[in-house]
Parts: sequence; structure tokens; C-alpha cells
Amino acid sequence: MKRLSVAIDGPAGAGKSTVARQVAKRLGLTYVDTGAMYRAITWKALRHRLDLTDESGVIHLARHTDLRLSTDQKGVGVWVDGEDVTEAIRTPEVTSNVSVIAGQGMVREVLVEKQREMAEQGGVVMDGRDIGTHVLPDADVKVFLTASIDERAQRRYQELMRRGYPVDLDRLKEEISQRDEKDKSREHSPLRPAKDAIHVDTTGLTIEEVIQAILDLCRTKV
Ligand code: C5P
Repeated sequence: MKRLSVAIDGPAGAGKSTVARQVAKRLGLTYVDTGAMYRAITWKALRHRLDLTDESGVIHLARHTDLRLSTDQKGVGVWVDGEDVTEAIRTPEVTSNVSVIAGQGMVREVLVEKQREMAEQGGVVMDGRDIGTHVLPDADVKVFLTASIDERAQRRYQELMRRGYPVDLDRLKEEISQRDEKDKSREHSPLRPAKDAIHVDTTGLTIEEVIQAILDLCRTKV
């Protein structure tokens, strides 16, 4: 069987990571959560009290970071310089600052290089914002996942409450819209569908229905 590479892009809260992880598991592929990589650098920059807009400081930090991802039964694990930051990178503080770091072209280059190395042999499901357009332009399957802003906010709300971060739903909706806007309008690799991406609107669909739709697309490629 050919080693597939699958790119899943889309705005915040569209369900990319849940779906991508399951698709990878069922096809025996490696899941790569690229958002976690931008979050990890943001976490470290905040920990070092760096001025996040100081691009040369951030790039130096990114180049000197040992960043590791792993996927097992429990989910995705993220380590920065040997420290487990799996939970720490999901805090509202990291979430509200990550777009500043992700907007910096040179930081993106460092992370994109790592992402391409991970995908070199194929056999990956990678999710993010620029996977189909920039990181893996030759991916076998490209999916652009969307959902209405109400549904995306509701999903993030449930997730954050589960993790123990009480949030206001309207405020969350506003934050998600702002993050999408920043991701769409930035100069470097903005969030947009690749020309050859299949659009999947997940509004009203169950996770299983979305997973099956993507598995069907993958089956046409092997
Ligand atoms: O996917 P997640 O919501 O964890 O991504 C966090 C942020 O990382 C996004 O809002 C975006 O700014 C950035 N990101 C990116 N390119 C990617 C993945 C994530 O710019 N490939």
C-alpha cells in the first residue's frame, strides 16, 4: 500500500485534530499536529518573558528548541526541551498569543522544515492552516474542514470546560473570529484552502461522519 500523505487545514475549532488523529489511527499513519508546534514556541517565549513581537528573539528561541511530538493511545504529547507541555500549550494565554508568533515568516520556516522532515517518507496525516497550500503541496489528499462559527465556538467551549477553564461563550466566539481573521490576513502562508482541496463543512455532522468522509477520500488514492 502506498504511504499516503493527508493534509487537513481549516479554521480554529473545525474539529481538525480530533478527526485527523482518528484518520491517522485507522489508516496506521502518523498524526502531526502542526498547531501544537506553534503553540509550543509561544509557550516557551511566554515562559522566557520574551517580547513576542521581537522577531529576532523569537527566531533565536525557535532555532534553539528541542521540540518533540508523539501520538499514543492517550492522544498527542508535546515536549519542549524535555519538558512535557502537552497541557500547558492549550491554556487561553497561549491560545490568545499564538497568532503573533505564527505570523512571523522566519519562525514559520523553522517549523515548516521540521514538518516536511516528518512527512518525508509519507505516511502522515498533518493538520494546520497551510499544509495543503505550503507545507505539503503534493499531499495525496487535501481537505479543508469548516463549520459555522456558532458550532466551532460551542465545541471549543465544551472542550475548555472539560479541561477546567471556565469561559464565556460569546467571548470565545469573538476570540475565535479574531484568531481566524489574523490567520487569514497574515502575509506569510495565510489560512486558505488549497486549489485542489476538498471542502468538508462539518456543521451538523458527527465526528464519525467526518472521519468516514475523509477515509473514503483516502481510499480513492490507494
Ligand atoms: O490548530 P491550533 O488551533 O492549535 O493552531 C494554533 C495556531 O497556530 C493557529 O491559530 C495559527 O495561528 C497557528 N498555526 C499556523 N499554521 C499551522 C498550524 C497552526 O499558523 N500550520
